[in-house]
Amino acid sequence: MRVIVEPDRDEVGRRAAQFVAELVRRRPTCVLGLATGGTVLGTYAELIRMHREEGLDFSRVVSFNLDEYVGLGPTHPQSYRHFMQQNFFDHINIDVRNTHVPDGRALDFEAHCEQYEKHIREEGGIDLQILGIGGDGHIAFNEPGSSLGSRTRLKTLTEETVRDNARFFDNEDEVPRLAITMGVGTILESRRCLLIACGESKAKAIRETIEGPVTAQITASALQLHREVVAILDEEAARLLERREYYRQVEHAQTLMRSGQMRPLSPTR
Ligand code: GLP
Repeated sequence: MRVIVEPDRDEVGRRAAQFVAELVRRRPTCVLGLATGGTVLGTYAELIRMHREEGLDFSRVVSFNLDEYVGLGPTHPQSYRHFMQQNFFDHINIDVRNTHVPDGRALDFEAHCEQYEKHIREEGGIDLQILGIGGDGHIAFNEPGSSLGSRTRLKTLTEETVRDNARFFDNEDEVPRLAITMGVGTILESRRCLLIACGESKAKAIRETIEGPVTAQITASALQLHREVVAILDEEAARLLERREYYRQVEHAQTLMRSGQMRPLSPTR
C-alpha cells in the first residue's frame, strides 16, 4: 500500500482530487467508485474547482456509489443520493443518468443488489474507488465481521456507526439501522483504490488497516490484498503509524524519480 501523509485536511482533499483528475483526463469514459461522508468533501470541492476553473470534463464519466441507507429515498436530506447531488453532481457536468447510487427503497433488495453488481460489470468494472473509513475500520458499510469476499447486499449497522453518523440526523433514533453496501469483494475488484482519512478519530483504524493483520474485524485491512491502493492521510490520522518515516522516504524517492533526479536501477545486462 502506498501511504501519503499530508499536513492537513485541505491538502488531503487536493491530493486525492489530483489522482481522480489525472484519471478523468487520461480516460474520459472512466468508471469512478464514489463515497460519502465528511472526509471526501474536500476532494469533491477540489474536483468542482477543477471543473470550473480548468475545464475538467465529467461528461462521459460513469459513477457507482458505495452504499445507501435502507428506507431513505433520493430526496431525503440524509440519503447518500442527496449528499452526492448536493456536494458533487449538481456542480459538475456529469450526466446524472451515468451516476448510480443503490436504491434505499428498492422493493426486492436481493434482486436490486444483484443488478447493481451486474451493472458495474457491464460498465467494465470500477477504475478508481474512493474510500473513507469508519472509526471501527469499515469501508463502505462493511461492518466488522463482514466476509472479505462479500458482494453488494444488505448490512446491519453497528451501534458505533449509528452513533458516528447520528451527527447528520436530528437524533440517533432517526439513523437507519440497515444499509445496502458494496461488499469487500466488490471493492477489491476495482482497479485502484484511494483510501482517504483525516483526524484523530481515524488514527487507530488507520494503524490497524495499514500495519495490522488482515482481518474481517477491520474490513479496511482487506485492502492489503489489493494490488494498487493509495492511502492519503492527514497528520492526525497517520499519528499511530509505526513506519511513517519509511513511507515518507518512499514518497521522497518517488518525487526524485519523477523529476529525473534519481533513476530506478536498470537491469544488469
Ligand atoms: C459512513 C460511510 C463510509 C464512510 C464513513 C466515514 O459509514 N458508509 O463510506 O467512509 O461513513 O465517514 P466520515 O468521512 O464522515 O468520517
